[in-house]
Amino acid sequence: MVGIYLSGTGNTKHCLTYLLEIVDPDAKAYPIEMDGVVEKIKESDVVFLAFPTQFSNVPYMVKDFIRKNSQIWQGKKVFCMTTMGAFSGDGAGCAARVLKKYGASILGGLHVKMPDAVCDSKMLKKPLSENQRIVKEADEKIEKIGREIKDGKYPKDGLGFVAHVAGLMGQRLWFYNKTTDYSSKLKISDACVGCGLCTRNCPMHNLKLENGKVLIHGQCAMCYRCISTCPQKAITLLGKEVFEQSRYEKYAVHTET
Ligand SMILES: Cc1cc2nc3c(=O)[nH]c(=O)nc-3n(C[C@H](O)[C@H](O)[C@H](O)COP(=O)(O)O)c2cc1C
Repeated sequence: MVGIYLSGTGNTKHCLTYLLEIVDPDAKAYPIEMDGVVEKIKESDVVFLAFPTQFSNVPYMVKDFIRKNSQIWQGKKVFCMTTMGAFSGDGAGCAARVLKKYGASILGGLHVKMPDAVCDSKMLKKPLSENQRIVKEADEKIEKIGREIKDGKYPKDGLGFVAHVAGLMGQRLWFYNKTTDYSSKLKISDACVGCGLCTRNCPMHNLKLENGKVLIHGQCAMCYRCISTCPQKAITLLGKEVFEQSRYEKYAVHTET
């Protein structure tokens, strides 16, 4: 068993590694951008694939990865997991349908609500205590599901027809164009001091430091990793200003209820 994930602000990484810890402590989770990740998949019969929901869809980077490596999925048993800020309809199903096309069989699907990664939209920001509660509830859900999976019972979140319609009507139809390619909408303000942190962190190698200036190559996965970690809060994507950077670690310290 192997885990593969895309994670911008750490939510998906946490959820997948926690689930694997319960289901199979020997299984390792690897970021999708890691060199050699395809080999890790080839070596395993069972793959837990996890990603953040983007506009009720699979991030283009994940879809692109599945398609570019179409030959590795034949005969694999894949469990699809997505984390989301509010609602994903059929997030897991969107990946499952593509994987099935390439010969994978789908073990199940899981949707986990986590803090919203979009930190340059005031509308989506929640108070710290609420995000802490969301993370605590997510952990409880993962613990329960993990025990069930160990008993051979896989959840089917996002895999049915009703979920498919909900995903389509909820958001995907309206925002479909945002998930059909990498984004070229990333912006860097004059507050940037050229520290280069974003260029080292980007899973797409979309950012390059040249003569102390960060250059954008128009291949953004919209993961929000650079936006959430920039010390100057100089990077934005969907909004124009960073309100409060989102990172899993900030919400992981639980308050007693
Ligand atoms: C570009 C973008 C689009 C998003 N779209 C949705 C969405 O349609 N529905 C939802 O519930 N959450 C949405 N989210 C929130 C993320 O899915 C959520 O915060 C996720 O847990 C982030 O995981 P990560 O930290 O592993 O990247 C979106 C986030 C981003 C960055």
